[in-house]
Amino acid sequence: MSTENKKEIVLSGIRSTGNLHLGNYYGALSKFVKMQDDYDCLFFIADLHALTTNPDPEALHANVKSILAEYLAAGLDPDKATIFVQSDIPEISEMYLLLNMHVGIGELMRTASFKDKARKALGLSGSTDDNDAAFEHQIIGAETNKRVNAGLLTYPTLMAVDILIQKANKVPVGKDQLQHLELTRRFARRFNSFYGVDLFPEPESFDFGGKPVKVPGLDGSGKMGKSEGNCIYLIDDEKVLRKKVMRAVTDQGPTEPNSPVSEPIANLFALLELTSTPEVVQQFRDAYADCSIRYGDLKKQLAEDILKVTTPIRERVNDILADDEYLRKVLASGAEKARERAAKTLAEVRQIMGIRKF
Ligand code: ADP
Ligand code: TRP
Repeated sequence: MSTENKKEIVLSGIRSTGNLHLGNYYGALSKFVKMQDDYDCLFFIADLHALTTNPDPEALHANVKSILAEYLAAGLDPDKATIFVQSDIPEISEMYLLLNMHVGIGELMRTASFKDKARKALGLSGSTDDNDAAFEHQIIGAETNKRVNAGLLTYPTLMAVDILIQKANKVPVGKDQLQHLELTRRFARRFNSFYGVDLFPEPESFDFGGKPVKVPGLDGSGKMGKSEGNCIYLIDDEKVLRKKVMRAVTDQGPTEPNSPVSEPIANLFALLELTSTPEVVQQFRDAYADCSIRYGDLKKQLAEDILKVTTPIRERVNDILADDEYLRKVLASGAEKARERAAKTLAEVRQIMGIRKF
């Protein structure tokens, strides 16, 4: 019986909403690449999740292909990891319907990502901490041309299903996804205890023992993100990339030794820490502390170090994109493996919930 793989199961995905940026790389993709040797890995492209905010057929289709090429160019190896597209696994959609029967609309409405995305959809300012009752009233009363779709509300259910249908143990994601993982654990516990079964393991986030990563933008505040318009993309060419880094927001510079560091400068240091050696980081920290720092030098160094990471990826992407046959093969074999496991879990879920043949 036991030819089964005993390695822990790792699963993660990225939405197909555009090209991958440094936030995706350090928060997710670079971890995927490092994990594929030691775990039983499944990495996918979350095209159904992309539909919750970006329902543009042509863009969606193109983005699935570009993310796949970027996955492969960054070093994901289809011989080691199962690489697939979410919508190629219809079992996910069925289990999403079933799991939704055990998810409360209240807990979904309180999710931070829902509030942020709903605010954006309605064109509202404000933060996730603002008055919930007033906000909920606005969601319900919204006109149809500016509405919050039910898919956005149930986004965490779909994400939980991605994870639970593969019975994943570890989920490498950036800091912004931790609340979704917490919900996934809660849904898993709830399902197991409601039906008195031990079907789903509770998945953990994974960060190689370090802190969850939050890659900042270069615009002075907040995280790097596609919708923030502050991204350094893995496929940015040298000129574009240097220009973006040289334009990063800074301040007037320290005037007294050991001054506190402002947010834009802390962000530059955070990026430097991700991309440079500890010696280089220390050298600039010392220069900041004794007021000799020149932000232009810091930015030049940062651009060079980022390019060292992104150039090999960018150089591979175009070749991979040109090879449709290879891409199709990767996805067909990934879908086959992911479906087999998903179908097994779905059959168990149906049985447990009472959807049985007579
Ligand atoms: P975006 O926020 O640009 O739309 P996604 O939501 O598709 O990106 O994120 C895909 C993965 O990349 C997730 O694991 C997410 O945590 C990670 N990620 C995205 N932006 C960042 C960031 N600025 N810092 C760290 N991780 C990030
Ligand atoms: N919600 C994730 C994001 O926006 C993408 C995602 C969908 C995901 N399903 C997942 C990540 C399952 C990890 C596991 O980035």
